[in-house]
Order: sequence, then structure tokens, then C-alpha cells
Amino acid sequence: MQKLEVFGANKLKGQIKISGSKNASLPILAATLLSRKKIYLKNLPRVKDIETMASLLQSLGSKIKFNQNNLVIDNIKQRKSFAPYSLVKTMRAGILVLGPLLAKFGKAKVSLPGGCAIGTRPVDIHLDALSKLGVKYKIVQGYVHAIAAKGLIGNKIRFSKISVGATENLIIAASFAKGTTVLSNCAIEPEIKDLVNFLKNMGCNIKWISKRSVKIEGVSEVKEITYQVMFDRIEAGTYLVAAAVTAGNLKIKHIIPKIIQTEINTLKKIGAKINVKKDEVHIIGNKKIKNTNIKTAPYPGFPTDLQAQIMVLLCKANKQSVIKEDIFENRFMHVAELNRMGAKISTNGNTAKVTGNINFAAAELMATDLRASVSLILAALTTKGKSVINRIYHLDRGYENIEKKLKKVGAKIRRVN
Ligand code: UD1
Repeated sequence: MQKLEVFGANKLKGQIKISGSKNASLPILAATLLSRKKIYLKNLPRVKDIETMASLLQSLGSKIKFNQNNLVIDNIKQRKSFAPYSLVKTMRAGILVLGPLLAKFGKAKVSLPGGCAIGTRPVDIHLDALSKLGVKYKIVQGYVHAIAAKGLIGNKIRFSKISVGATENLIIAASFAKGTTVLSNCAIEPEIKDLVNFLKNMGCNIKWISKRSVKIEGVSEVKEITYQVMFDRIEAGTYLVAAAVTAGNLKIKHIIPKIIQTEINTLKKIGAKINVKKDEVHIIGNKKIKNTNIKTAPYPGFPTDLQAQIMVLLCKANKQSVIKEDIFENRFMHVAELNRMGAKISTNGNTAKVTGNINFAAAELMATDLRASVSLILAALTTKGKSVINRIYHLDRGYENIEKKLKKVGAKIRRVN
């Protein structure tokens, strides 16, 4: 199994070009199932989750050809509506094929998903909302067996809780439903706006009617398009933290800074110097890091996907900080590993008290989920000596060329077998 070796304690300096967004690419790839025309996608990150989604689509009958970060997908002969456990188990976003398959075929059999072990992560909100579009379903041996005998029929649906995936699944499904659907209490993550832009470009009829409500008039056909996926805001945030935690000097490029305003404001508050340009953020980390309290929340709040990374930074603050994880119930698995490196973090339910003024010590470590893995790299980058990070397959699910990008700005990091 591959590992990463990190030899830390040097400042990062230079430029990092941010890749396309994994979390925007996944629902967009699922949404291509609606089409019977060719679709050209640009700026996809070549990470494991994208390969898994591509394999899932291929198993459903899609023809896919990658050319580096671009892809052409041809769903002209796509006929199958069965998504097997073997392809959905490692990636929760696998459930996103349920909506488009039901929209296209009126039936689907999709495995319940896996993904990071950061909580129970049920799909009840997806299923409740789909049933309001006329879907009947049962769960048999880990599979959702769903049927819309009369096709999907538009309806007014208020999500009981804000869910990124359920909002995406329903927007995709309702785009091909008969009549009008109004979804309220929607997630409004930038990746959802990107999905909507993609669908609108294809010819779907979707309009935001208030901050968290969207109106969708179903269509029955879409057109051939080329679409460029947005930048990965979590990758951008991770490298901003990397600069801050090593008192480095990085230009984070190919991004839209206003999309990560909350993260920029938080880092400024902590003491980093930040200069924002049209498509880049220049950050100069400060050796003196100020404590702050953070609560994760749906967009535009502080992203849960950056909680582990910011925790590493707050370990180096002048005083104690408190982090409240309000999205997932079990997203502190990085805490045990950070404490093994010398951090003093205590958790109580979904609250973590993070003691400041910590000097991390190099250690052999175990990655437990995608963002936890990267937090261990960030901590290792601040230490003298060699840290070894095991189980980096989690990291490979979501960070494109991470060693290459970090090496280019001065980190000593290498992958070993
Ligand atoms: C997406 C992101 C993930 C991010 C998360 C929150 C992708 C591929 N993944 O995950 O990186 O951390 O948004 O920003 O885009 N829930 C239910 N029932 C459901 C659905 C969700 O109880 O049917 C709960 C979840 O367990 C969680 C919360 O709602 O506690 C939010 O989950 P959701 O927004 O759906 O996250 P994902 O779409 O899985």
C-alpha cells in the first residue's frame, strides 16, 4: 500500500494552480445521463472519485473518452439503470445517478452508497423528495429499487434539512420531470450553482426564485454542449491553510476569490496577509497566529470540508480555539492522529477545544478520510523530521497531483510503496 513521507519545517513559496472541482464534477457527470447527445467536459480533476464515477457511468452504458483533464461522454446508447455496490461503495456521490436514471427510464436499482466514514450519512432526504415526484421505492439487500410508473411528475418539495447531494439529485431529476417543480430549503453550495449552469447550458429550464428556492420546468430533450467545470474551492482552501501554517508565501491561482470569501475572512482574522486579485489570492502566512472560534455550516458558512485543515492551523494559535462541527456527527477522526503528533485537542460531541501554541512532532500516521488525510500532511509540513502517512488512498480520492503541487512550492514530500 502506498504511503507519503513528509520532511517538514520549510516555508512554502510560489504558485499553485487549482484543479477543477471534484464535488462539482461528480453531479455534472451524473447529470450527463439525462442526455442522448455528446457532452464535452473540461477541467475535470483526475482523482479517484472521478475515475469511479466514470466507471459507474460506463457500467450503465456511457461511452467515455478522457484526454487529460477533458472528457467526451456519449450516452446515445446508454440503456442500463442498475448501479452496483462494487462501484457505489467507495463514493457517496454514486447515489447521484438515481435521479437521472429515474428521469430517463422511470426505474432504477442503485446500491446504497459508501464514502468517507464521517457519520451515518443516510439518503432518506433524497428518497423522500424523489417520492414526491411520484417515485415508489423499497430497499432490498442494500439496494434502492425505485420505480416511477407514470414518469416523474413535478411537485413542490421542501427539504427537511439542507443537503448538498439531495438538492443535486432532485434538480437533475426534476429537469426531466413532467411539469413544474419548486424545491425549497435547497443547499446553495457553488458546486450546485455550477451543476445548474451546466444543466441550463444543455437546455434545461431552471431558475433560482429566492436564496434557497429553485423552480424547474421539465424538458424532454437536451442539446450537445461543451462545459468547463468550476475550480475546487476546498483544494484552494487547503493550500491557503498550507501557506498560513508554514508562514509561507503562496499565490493560489485559477480561482474565483469571491466564492471563498468566508475562508479568506477567517484566514485574515487569524493573522494571514491576503491580497485578492481577479482570479488569484496571494497569501503570506504570519508566524503569529490568532485564535478564533469556528462553526461549520452550509454555504456560505465555513465548509466542513476544511474543518480538519483549519484545526491544524489553530493548534498553532496564541490561545485556545473552539471548533463546532455542525454538518457531520463524526468528523473529528483526525483529532486522535493530530494528538499523536503533540496536539492538545479534546472533543465533546460535535465540539472540539483546540489548545494553541503547539509544536507538532513528526510521526507515523494513519489517514482516516479524505480531508483528515490532508490535515495530517499540513501538520507534518510544520515539523522537523520525517512523518509517514499511511492509507493515502483516501487522499487520492480528491486531491489532484498533491505531491507535485506541494513539491513545486518547496515541500519535501514523496510517495513510497
Ligand atoms: C457533500 C460533499 C461533501 C461535503 C458535504 C457537506 C460531494 C460529493 N460531497 O456531501 O464533500 O462534506 O456535501 O458540505 O459533493 N443527510 C441526511 N440524509 C440525507 C442526506 C444527508 O441525514 O438523505 C445528512 C448527512 O448525514 C449530513 C448532512 O445531512 O449530516 C449534510 O449532508 P449532505 O449535504 O447531503 O452531504 P453530501 O451531499 O453527502
